[in-house]
Parts: sequence; structure tokens; C-alpha cells
Amino acid sequence: MDHFLYRNGQLHAEDVPVAEIAAAVGTPFYCYSSATLLRHFRLFDEALAGLDHLVCYAVKANSNQAILTLLAGAGAGMDVVSGGEYARARAAGVPGERIVFSGVGKTRAEMRVALEGGIRQFNVESEPELEALSEIAASLGRVAPIALRVNPDVDARTHAKIATGKSENKFGIPIARAREVYAAAGRLPGIDVVGVDVHIGSQLTELAPFRAAYEKVAELARMLRGDGHDIRRLDLGGGLGIPYTRSNEAPPLPSEYGALIRETVGDLGCEVEIEPGRLIAGNAGILVSRVIYVKSGAERDFLILDAAMNDLVRPSMYDAHHDIVPVVEPEVAVPLLPFDVVGPVCETGDTFARARALPPFAAGDLVAFRSAGAYGAVMASEYNTRPLVPEVMVSGTRWGQVRARPTLDEIIARDNVPDWLPTNESMPD
Ligand code: LLP
Repeated sequence: MDHFLYRNGQLHAEDVPVAEIAAAVGTPFYCYSSATLLRHFRLFDEALAGLDHLVCYAVKANSNQAILTLLAGAGAGMDVVSGGEYARARAAGVPGERIVFSGVGKTRAEMRVALEGGIRQFNVESEPELEALSEIAASLGRVAPIALRVNPDVDARTHAKIATGKSENKFGIPIARAREVYAAAGRLPGIDVVGVDVHIGSQLTELAPFRAAYEKVAELARMLRGDGHDIRRLDLGGGLGIPYTRSNEAPPLPSEYGALIRETVGDLGCEVEIEPGRLIAGNAGILVSRVIYVKSGAERDFLILDAAMNDLVRPSMYDAHHDIVPVVEPEVAVPLLPFDVVGPVCETGDTFARARALPPFAAGDLVAFRSAGAYGAVMASEYNTRPLVPEVMVSGTRWGQVRARPTLDEIIARDNVPDWLPTNESMPD
């Protein structure tokens, strides 16, 4: 469920007509519903009620400060994967003890910042990382709390680019070697072993792979306790998928996911952490764009939008489907036509959808890409010197820009032209 619905024939974000925002900020822009964000966070929180738990929002899904501040205020912890995300979480008021630091290549500088600023736990992915972390912590006179991310060799049955739990993936420590690495961790002076971490992929649409992974984690946790480690936390990662189409998809609900967690690891008495990103932010955001031209093609008509692959890269990067809906609700009886929906960027990959059945559009019409709140704005670039698009947050009847569109002058001024560069005047004839 989300809060982008038609009312009186107009798409609304909560109680605000989307067209009104478009008129004020221009297109394209991202629009987020604070009610949906909070609702999704609470679904996870409630799904784990009764277990000692912390829902650590995966900041990578959407790191806008307004979103982080909103979720922090609701009691969320955060999962960060860079010094930049750590700084964002802290700036949003998240205390260090609610931040977990994941990622396969943390630098020593990032480790130092997190140790000095406060951290709940590092999810460590390799032996060299473990040694570096111990060294840095010891040099600061501290001890780093860690979980080892284990790779359970489970097929998440999702897109290959976002599956992380198979042995051939770069992530984690092979589960078969985990006991050995835990033993090594236990001997390091700057390390305090607190738990086990796992994350097998993103956009999972069934529970079976989670079950397989969590059963392996539970078995490992028992063995590690037998080896003398005080395993008191389990970080079960993120990855629960969302419906990207309104028709046929029905991924498991957070409540079902919560029940699975109870069933697989509930009896261990550990504190449970989860790291959902997409399910919290995905259907809490839309990307609004305007039709520039409707162009007749040899096979089909092209809908040329003012949004492009640089604004929402998921379709060209993962062949991802996003529902595209008109901002003005079409008449029920209107015949749908197949369109190729494209952006203005100079490559054929700048295609959002092929042969998509849509109501007729005219230049100037507004459209919305649904399910664009996660991995949308955060993956945008300024390719073709197209400014990053503004982001707007809505709450009931109120809305505000939570990131403004940069001006072209600001973009150009970020570059520096060295004074030793030959210019036309100094060129020899
Ligand atoms: N924890 C870790 C360690 C992760 O690597 C990820 C996502 C998450 C949590 C959050 O997973 P979620 O609940 O959002 O599925 N750009 C891709 C998705 C990349 C996901 C990367 N890791 C996309 O647009 O589909």
C-alpha cells in the first residue's frame, strides 16, 4: 500500500496534487510520501515485536537527509556502507550505537571515523579487513564490536547483479570457513566478536532463500557459542522485495518475514537486526516527468520524456520494470496503445519501457514512475550535464523540497580550469 492515489481524476501524493508540485518545482522531480515511509518502517518494527530487535534502514536505498531524519525520529537504526553514509546518518541525529557499518571494502579512514564517532558494530567481510580494523581500533585504544558477514552459498533467485549470497559473489566469508575466521577474530586485540551477519541479495520475492540462509546462520551461531564466542546479535540483512507492478506480484509481507525470523533464529535469544532498504523507500517515492514529444516510429510511437536514464537508471541497468502512470487519470474506456518510453539521453539504453500499453499522451502531459523511492535518486548522475533532479517530501497537505535542483552555473563552477591550460589567446598561431 502507498499514498499515491487518484482523487478527482488527479494523481495525489498524500493530500497534495502531484501537478501542483510539478508547477512549482518543474520536472523531472522525485516525490516521497512520509506516511508511506513511516508505515513501511513500522511494519518491520511490528513484525519483530517481542524479539529484542533493531530495524536498521539501509541508507543506500535513499539517503536524503529528510528521509533519514524522519526514520531516525521513528526509532530506526541505520545500515551504512561508506563514510559518507555514516556522516549522513549522524547528521540526521542517529546515535552511533544504532549504526551498523556494512560493505566489502571499508577503508582505514572510514573505520577510524566510525570508531571515534561511535558505532554499534562493523559487519566484517574478510580477514584482511578484520586485521586492519583490529589495528586501527587498538591504535585508538578501543575495541571494535564486530559480526562477520558469512556467505551461506544460497541462491537468492533475484537479478544476477543484486544477488550476493552465492559462493562466487564477492561478499562475505564462506560459511564453511567461518569458525576458523571467528577463532582468529577472537585472538585479535582490537576486536570484540558480538554476532553473525548475513545478506543474500535484494528484491527477493520468496521466503525460501531467506529460510535457507537463516537456518545456516542459526546452526553456525550455535557452533560458535560452543567454541566459546559470546554470540549475542544476529544481523539478518535486507532484501525483502516489493511489488513493482500492481497486478500479479505479491512478494511476502514483512509480517510473514518476521514470522520466518522467529521460527529460524528466535530461540537463540539473540538481539536481531535487519537492514531493509527497498521495502521502506521503494513504494514511498515516484519520479514525475513531462512528455516532451510524442514521435512516430517505424514500429511504435515513442514517448520522449524529460526524465532519462541518468535520473532513474534501474530500467537500463537491471532491465527493471517501473509502472508508468499518467498524472491525470485517463477515462476508463480509453484504448491503450503500445509506446516505447524513452529519455533524451544520447544512447539507446536510455529506454524506460518497450511496447508499454499506455493511454494516449500529448506533449506537455505529466507522467509518474511508480516504485522509484529506492535506488532512484541515489543512483542518479549528471550525465549529459542534466542537473540532478529535485526531491520533494509530502506529509498530509504539506510538502517541501528536500533537495533543490542545482543551477547550471553551480554545476559548471564545480569544475576547475587550471590557469596553466593553454587557451585560444595563448595558442601559437
Ligand atoms: N544490507 C546490505 C548489506 C545490502 O548490500 C543491501 C543492498 C541492503 C541491506 C538493502 O537491501 P534491500 O532491502 O534494499 O533489498 N541498486 C539495486 C539494489 C542494490 C542493493 C544493494 N544492497 C537496485 O536498484 O535494484
